[in-house]
Amino acid sequence: MKILISGGNGQLARALRGALPADCSVFTPDRRELDVSSFSVVEDYFARVRPELVIHTAALTNVDRCEKEPGLALLVNARGSRNIALACQGFNAEMIHISTNFIFNGKSKDFYREDSLPDPINIYGYSKLLAEFFVKELLKNYYIVRTSWLYGEGEDNFVKRMIGLACQRKLLCVVDDQWAAPSYTVDLAEGILRLAASKKYGIYNMTNKGYCSRLQWVKEIIRISGIDVELKAVSSDYFPTPAVRPAFTVLSNDLLEQKIGFRLRSWEEALKEYCQRSGNI
Ligand SMILES: NC(=O)c1ccc[n+]([C@@H]2O[C@H](COP(=O)([O-])OP(=O)(O)OC[C@H]3O[C@@H](n4cnc5c(N)ncnc54)[C@H](OP(=O)(O)O)[C@@H]3O)[C@@H](O)[C@H]2O)c1
Repeated sequence: MKILISGGNGQLARALRGALPADCSVFTPDRRELDVSSFSVVEDYFARVRPELVIHTAALTNVDRCEKEPGLALLVNARGSRNIALACQGFNAEMIHISTNFIFNGKSKDFYREDSLPDPINIYGYSKLLAEFFVKELLKNYYIVRTSWLYGEGEDNFVKRMIGLACQRKLLCVVDDQWAAPSYTVDLAEGILRLAASKKYGIYNMTNKGYCSRLQWVKEIIRISGIDVELKAVSSDYFPTPAVRPAFTVLSNDLLEQKIGFRLRSWEEALKEYCQRSGNI
């Protein structure tokens, strides 16, 4: 089977590449090779490769950059996803589109389900919601996978950043009013491939089990890594950022379990494995 993974240099793309069986032909172009914001580039690439399955991970994921450059965010995240969906339509390929917990406003006290009403509060969230609309409108055979707080092998992620800071400082201030489920790309890649094999198209939430605040996440990171640093809880106002973050965006994974019979392990277990693999224990 020919599989195309857009955004080939990103965290999730790397994990997917590692999880795919050897008998697949896998194409993982980076932004220079396949810029999803240009339809002619996308069309040419599809004409050359003729993928049967496309896993669309490419996105502008820096939430503050999206806020400062909304035109670029919409071009890459919304129009880029439309370009990929259109090409999938034209070349009869299935599409797995990766979406986010940030399409929700975070005001709920309950877990968000697949049919909860989206209401993004920042440009990144808007651009990713628009992408979902395009995928749904243009394709019949699609999966939309919503996930949260991703980390894994790659250039930069929250876990790496916190370990770096914790090693340099005696005191670390961390926000304690944002809640979600940290999700390890290796686990997500396994779930995405199971979903792809199921042919049960639709929208699915997919995160590691459980949830925490940013502060609880950092507590666990430094406990596992054995770093001696004092943590101080602060509110989001303490670190003013261009984009506001939704407060509580925990996604329910029940549908994935009911329809696909799969649940990702707990976020604590996954984090421990990541720290072991990346040499931080
Ligand atoms: N990270 C999270 O916490 C999180 C949470 C929920 C959902 N998601 C979603 O999950 C997916 C994967 O996230 P990730 O953490 O793996 O992201 P990532 O590491 O930032 O990777 C995204 C990749 O997309 C590439 N890209 C940017 N603009 C592009 C363009 N115009 N054409 C082609 N490629 C382009 C980037 O390349 P350059 O670096 O060269 O620009 C980068 O390699 C994204 O769709 C994201 O929205 C992420």
